[in-house]
Amino acid sequence: MTTVRDLQAMAGDEQITMLTAYDAVTAALVEDAGVDVVLVGDSMGNAVLGHEDTLPVTVDEMASRVGAVARGTDDALVVADMPFLSVGADEAESVKNCGRMLKEEGANAVKLESGPHTVELTERLADLGIPVMAHLGLTPQSVNQTGYTQQATGREEAKEILDLAQAHEDAGAFALVLEHVPANLAAQVTEALDIPTIGIGAGGDCDGQVLVFTDVVGLAESSPPFAEQFGDVRSEVQSAVGDYVEAVESGEFPGDDHADSNAELDDLY
Ligand code: KIV
Repeated sequence: MTTVRDLQAMAGDEQITMLTAYDAVTAALVEDAGVDVVLVGDSMGNAVLGHEDTLPVTVDEMASRVGAVARGTDDALVVADMPFLSVGADEAESVKNCGRMLKEEGANAVKLESGPHTVELTERLADLGIPVMAHLGLTPQSVNQTGYTQQATGREEAKEILDLAQAHEDAGAFALVLEHVPANLAAQVTEALDIPTIGIGAGGDCDGQVLVFTDVVGLAESSPPFAEQFGDVRSEVQSAVGDYVEAVESGEFPGDDHADSNAELDDLY
């Protein structure tokens, strides 16, 4: 099993690969393809649950998906992304929600969309044996404050990210996601930290990269500008399902080889 220590050992030597998955079948495929970390992202809100954004995702929905992904994987590190307001408001509730992902669902770590309010919580969780992946820059749960634009484009905000990154490392975070920030800022954060940085829309100098599964395989209707499509699964699915509908409608399917007849049942009436 990949551990947080393995990831830390990879940093600087070997790029860490992280990709989202929201079900057991996809998680198994993602792991077989060589991904190190499977993130059960709250991006499931817009990627697969039909919401406009990630805000409506619940702790129960996340728990159910984390359980499925954990059952679908053997070796990859499974990270549960904590939904909007499931952490941060109340410490005991935050610990309970995060602990549930490891204790009941089989996650190996949690990811928190981070800020000044998550430094102490990160320390508490790490002390309790819950590995924390921090997340700075564009944090989609703050869409109502920031939109989806690139973050930390000015010196002051960039300095804040650097300081927060350091504060989360000091608090015990084992890795840091940097989303949609200037590449030179991500490079400076990576240089400054001992823990691995995993970038998304943050240039090529991080210790690893993460993307959303539906963007990578070409299943999403639209993708952010920093994503890359490596396949065209949407067309494949449309074509396969279209062929199925045509075959049923034309009577071509099921054929003789799809049906077993029982001779004893002939002439029943
Ligand atoms: O929810 C998610 O998928 C994420 C990644 C894009 C980092 O937070």
